[in-house]
Amino acid sequence: MLDLTTIRSELGSHYDLEPSLDLAERMADIHARMGRVMPWPDWAIHAPYVAAINQLKKERGAVVLAHNYMTPQIYHGISDVVGDSLALAIAATQVEAQVIVQCGVHFMAETSKILNPQKTVLMPDMAAGCSLAESITAEGIAEMRARYPGAPVVSYVNTTAEVKAASDICCTSANAAQIVAAMPGDTVIMTPDKWLAQNVAKQVPQKRVVWWDGACIVHEQFTPQDLRDFRAWNPGLKIIAHPECPPDVVAEADYAGSTANIQGWVETERPKQVMLVTECSMASNISDANPDVEFLGPCNMCPYMQKITLEKVLWSLHSMTGVVEVDPKVADRARLAVQRMIDLSQRLAA
Ligand code: 13P
Ligand code: SF4
Repeated sequence: MLDLTTIRSELGSHYDLEPSLDLAERMADIHARMGRVMPWPDWAIHAPYVAAINQLKKERGAVVLAHNYMTPQIYHGISDVVGDSLALAIAATQVEAQVIVQCGVHFMAETSKILNPQKTVLMPDMAAGCSLAESITAEGIAEMRARYPGAPVVSYVNTTAEVKAASDICCTSANAAQIVAAMPGDTVIMTPDKWLAQNVAKQVPQKRVVWWDGACIVHEQFTPQDLRDFRAWNPGLKIIAHPECPPDVVAEADYAGSTANIQGWVETERPKQVMLVTECSMASNISDANPDVEFLGPCNMCPYMQKITLEKVLWSLHSMTGVVEVDPKVADRARLAVQRMIDLSQRLAA
């Protein structure tokens, strides 16, 4: 576990990290991307970290790949690439820098390492896991194969490298339905998200989709009644759900898609009021780019994603700790499943 007291004193002796309104104002261009959700006193706290990280990135030749659920100060302050899981995996295949800092959860860093075995991938907090990735092991995949002989295994990228290595192909919420539809045979095994699998099953009725019993602890908290209540209180409200939500929640929404698709939908449709049924940093991050849209709704945070802070990013880059390793034999097999997904997804989109 990271010892924050030691980290703080070590960082304090190398960088000036005191809150500074003066520095915050000099970095007003960055603040302008998140002004709607970031009061100036808060920006004055974050700005010294953002300045130190951006300088250190140059010195280390590092890039930051950040998921859409990162806090606004990470998403807008220090990221070189932001996106959903699919975009981050594709970006990882194109990175030239020798050091990748993954601002997201552990399976994302593993995916970057699998795709870049020669590069250094840093994870600012190794404890940033995922309830889905923790719900299944390679033995679980073997169990499903024994139960449904011959059926292809499509595993969500929210899995460990071992699980990816035991799967035929990966998917993300952006391409799950297309990938399942493209699988041979009548039956397709989807792991580990039962809700994503059930949502995909509705979209791909020609396949018999069978699933593992995993769930996202953030998205399974939403209920159809929450959505109906918000609609009743705000007539005209548009509701967008992530497909990790249970199917009865998705059925109440106007649209469902990956985090990147949610962003695309808001930017295209420009609803007056919208509720994003997903991790709540998502709305904060796209708020300034959509000033005419009012974002409403409950704020469910992912406890794993929220483990990634500017302080921990600065520490990992400063000390070059949090290096992600994947057994090369496991990585070779996992790479096949990830690369098959990227190739098929790009072919289907062409
Ligand atoms: P996407 O960004 O791929 O939609 O995934 C959401 C998620 O829960 C990642 O942990
Ligand atoms: Fe995992 Fe859900 Fe958190 Fe995404 S939001 S990292 S699926 S627990």
